[in-house]
Amino acid sequence: MNRRKFIDFFLGGSLAGTIIALLYPTIRYILPTKQAEAVVKKITAAKVGELVPNTYKIFKFGTSPGILIFTPDGELRAFSGICTHLTCTVIYESDTGTILCPCHNGRFDLSGNVVSGPPPTPLESYNVKISGEDIIVSKKS
Ligand code: FES
Repeated sequence: MNRRKFIDFFLGGSLAGTIIALLYPTIRYILPTKQAEAVVKKITAAKVGELVPNTYKIFKFGTSPGILIFTPDGELRAFSGICTHLTCTVIYESDTGTILCPCHNGRFDLSGNVVSGPPPTPLESYNVKISGEDIIVSKKS
């Protein structure tokens, strides 16, 4: 191998290494890894006595938020905390007794049905059960 070929080979290898070093992280960023999301079907959302009537709590249900509402009538209700419009997190508005999505003023009643605003479908409702000191929320099957 003469000197010219050696320099061509060296520069070509350097160029190829640089291109790979730039492309690999870009491709890894664009193409997400296929990671199975843990399926959560049941969770302890709160402790008994943690909520008083007409209040709520946002809890984590797997990787998504859920909302647990202690209604003014003393009932516990739980829903997905994700608005069905553009996935903002909903809150409970005690003044009106409705679930509010603050992003575009979407409103749901305490059954999760759309009252007003842009949400196209009701909130997913969950089962609520008290087990000892725990308030257990589970997905409906
Ligand atoms: S994201 Fe909830 S109303 Fe638009």
